[in-house]
Amino acid sequence: MASLTVRRLDEGLKKALRLRAARSGRSVEDEVRTILRSAVAESPRDARTSAREQRTPPSPPPTPSRRVLLVIGGGIAAYKSLDLIRRLKERGLALRCILTRAATHFVTPLAAGALVGERVFTDLFDPAHEFDVGHIRLARETDLAVVAPATADLLAKLAGGHADDLATAVLLATEAKILLAPAMNPRMWAHRATQRNLARLLADGAALVGPNEGEMAEAGERGPGRMAEPVEIADAVMRLLAERVAPVLANTRVLVTSGPTHEPIDPVRYIANRSSGKQGHAIAHAAARAGADVILVSGPVNLPDPPGVTTVHVETARDMLRAVERALPVDVAIFAAAVADWRVDNAGRQKMKKIPGGEAPTLALKENPDILASVARRTAQRPRLVIGFAAETENITANARAKLARKGCDWIVANDVSPHTGVMGGDRNRVSLVTADGVEAWPLQSKEEVAAKLIARIADTLAVPA
Ligand SMILES: Cc1cc2nc3c(=O)[nH]c(=O)nc-3n(C[C@H](O)[C@H](O)[C@H](O)COP(=O)(O)O)c2cc1C
Repeated sequence: MASLTVRRLDEGLKKALRLRAARSGRSVEDEVRTILRSAVAESPRDARTSAREQRTPPSPPPTPSRRVLLVIGGGIAAYKSLDLIRRLKERGLALRCILTRAATHFVTPLAAGALVGERVFTDLFDPAHEFDVGHIRLARETDLAVVAPATADLLAKLAGGHADDLATAVLLATEAKILLAPAMNPRMWAHRATQRNLARLLADGAALVGPNEGEMAEAGERGPGRMAEPVEIADAVMRLLAERVAPVLANTRVLVTSGPTHEPIDPVRYIANRSSGKQGHAIAHAAARAGADVILVSGPVNLPDPPGVTTVHVETARDMLRAVERALPVDVAIFAAAVADWRVDNAGRQKMKKIPGGEAPTLALKENPDILASVARRTAQRPRLVIGFAAETENITANARAKLARKGCDWIVANDVSPHTGVMGGDRNRVSLVTADGVEAWPLQSKEEVAAKLIARIADTLAVPA
């Protein structure tokens, strides 16, 4: 039997395969198997297929986006996770379950396994399990991992990237989103170490449900630390699965710039613009959710760094250019930042003083580097797709078309930033996508929707071999 190594296929074919696999919710290997199976079924060689093979139907692929891995930690709330198993099964989810060693002191693998309907997993070094399913398959064959109860210990280990038992090894190896349902004594919950670990995990992209406030198992204890109720956790699971985005940009490096730049007048004053960074940050987040390796170069904004994204903070246009050049090579570069066109050439080294009765200082402006054009016009390390933004207040599409030609980029996302639109700093945006093929006017939608649509368009374009 000939063996085929997917890694050796050409890049275009690999990307198309990945996209197809992501859409059908299968691994690339399973997608190749499915394609080969249907090719064999359609081929005239069918006649030669043995009777035994014909009688064996291919096993149905797992329902996309419905596989959940439940990790039960060693807390008193573990008993509630038995009910959670039932709630998740009721919702038609394919469930696998890991119990930490500590969890087995609170619930038995037998009870959990009976409810799941198959054996549960407890040991990283169990040879029978490793040759059968294995920790990497447990990590890979899941759309969402739920840790309930998430003990203080598990939060600490996960935040530190530990992998010394089955639960932590699988949670470190999975690319699926992780939903944490913490449960612990209120003082453990309030401890700075726990809060620090939680903040780290949330910044890394984990989701949180609970904990709730109320009576604790220990007599006389109450406060925040009760695990969320199984129904609440199951609802959070369904919400996250519904939000899940196919990893259409896996193995793709994406650079996004966002926000304004600040150009100093002196050490305490600067020239800025009204860009909030919401659109650029939403694009970086959407790209990361689609599986891309994302670098966000952000000017000064009042937004948290998007989870799952490497964020580089800069202040001036020249800092931004340096950070962009350091980020290359990338597959896609999206320049959503509102970079100041000019900087102050005679910026004061000390704070400029107002002299009573004296003249107001004159600011001499000097043109800033053109970051978009400098990347789009590169001969070496030019990204495959260079996308600029055009913030206009008049003749939106005509100006955007002219910018596309002038800058040498592939697409321009043009938006009307006239004050009446509320786009600058607002949550919604109406954009037109200008490409060499024409202009597409998109409806007014949230900046997250614009981001998701743009990422889907990018994935479709990259899937076509260059
Ligand atoms: C009776 C008892 C109840 C416990 N309840 C909790 C709890 O609710 N939350 C918690 O974080 N740890 C709790 N612990 C401590 C954990 O069991 C301990 O930190 C253990 O190492 C956790 O292991 P795991 O995180 O691998 O599951 C409890 C321990 C005992 C003995």
